[in-house]
Amino acid sequence: MPFTSNRQFKKAPRMFVGAKDMFYTTSDGRQVLDGTAGLWCVNAGHCRPRIAQAIGEQAAEMDYAPAFQMGHPKAFELANALVGIAPEGMNHVLYTNSGSESVETALKVALAYHRVKGDGSRFRLIGRERGYHGVNFGGISVGGIVTNRKMFGTLLTGVDHLPHTHTPGKNQFTRGEREEGANLADELERIVTLHDASTIAAVIVEPVAGSTGVLIPPKGYLQKLRDITKKHGILLIFDEVITGFGRLGTPFAADYFGVIPDMIVAAKGLTNGTIPMGAVMVTSEIHDAFMQGPEHMIEFFHGYTYSGNPVASAAGLATLEVYKEEGLLTKGAGEIGKYWEDALHSLKGLPHVIDIRNLGLVGAVELEPIAGSPTKRAFAAFVKAFESGILIRTTGDIIAMSPPLMVEKSHIDQLIGTLSTILKGLE
Ligand SMILES: Cc1ncc(COP(=O)(O)O)c(C=O)c1O
Repeated sequence: MPFTSNRQFKKAPRMFVGAKDMFYTTSDGRQVLDGTAGLWCVNAGHCRPRIAQAIGEQAAEMDYAPAFQMGHPKAFELANALVGIAPEGMNHVLYTNSGSESVETALKVALAYHRVKGDGSRFRLIGRERGYHGVNFGGISVGGIVTNRKMFGTLLTGVDHLPHTHTPGKNQFTRGEREEGANLADELERIVTLHDASTIAAVIVEPVAGSTGVLIPPKGYLQKLRDITKKHGILLIFDEVITGFGRLGTPFAADYFGVIPDMIVAAKGLTNGTIPMGAVMVTSEIHDAFMQGPEHMIEFFHGYTYSGNPVASAAGLATLEVYKEEGLLTKGAGEIGKYWEDALHSLKGLPHVIDIRNLGLVGAVELEPIAGSPTKRAFAAFVKAFESGILIRTTGDIIAMSPPLMVEKSHIDQLIGTLSTILKGLE
């Protein structure tokens, strides 16, 4: 099982057998409130009839069309719909089947872009400590979570990392973005000075670091990264696999922060988690750079058998319709976002709670680790939560929550109320 303590799980399996809107049903017939939108992906809530119907109809009408040298209308319709909700300038879409593949695709686009422009000395990729960019080799190379990297020998060469943006002691219990810390982006200037801009292809960051435990960037930090990358001709890639599709109360984090990168990496919420699908959105400048040479030639030697799969495309189109009709991509910016923030921060002062962080409809509660047994306390909370009817996620000793965007106040009350009881009873 992926990212699972397999032996422990098999001794006491936790199984879901059904889902509807905000709730899962367990194999022993209990209802569990989904506090994590599955794995940050079921943004519209579970088993939405419209999405299920679109998937069924497409599977019956045309299950698969070859992705290379052939097309089908829904892949283009979805690309247009994506461009329609994407930040200004993101005009072209490449499809993948996951966040990890989207990351690899974006990194390859960055390298190839400089090369087709005659700037092939730009081979370096800059990531960030504590960054999560999936599990493939490019992603773990630019990623900065040590447990995901240390087992796998030599990763990509020519990679450097920015420092992460979390400064315990300075920013505990901040609501939303904190004021100080934008200067952490100046580290990019140091890296550029060290390697020379002429060797650097791209910088990739999650606008809000999710999987490492929800690290909110300081005010002005992402704009600084944008300014420095632009100044040096370096591409800026936002990995929006988590922050995309309404998580921060805007369609993308780029909208929330008012910072437009050169590429956006997406997946998860694109199909509401139903059918695996990812996407990389790029500017016309990047796209057009490839459109040269003889017309019979393939412009970019990359792609997947299932890129733009018809059933996934149908799921994506139906998902975007549901988001639009229900206002889900901006719901977190309204009253519910404030309610979420207040509820989360009401946990301050409970045993072991050393930090609480939030933005949009995402939040984290960091616990003091048990001395000598890191992760154990949060994992105990996770198991207790499941038994008590709520699904949370833990990473290290951090509890992360990101409910489906259809969440209502009563769900937040149940989630935070149950968590509060659990925290009071933790060893
Ligand atoms: C920011 C980010 N990038 C990439 C990924 C990888 O996505 P996947 O698990 O679909 O490969 C994730 C998954 O959580 C993610 O959060």
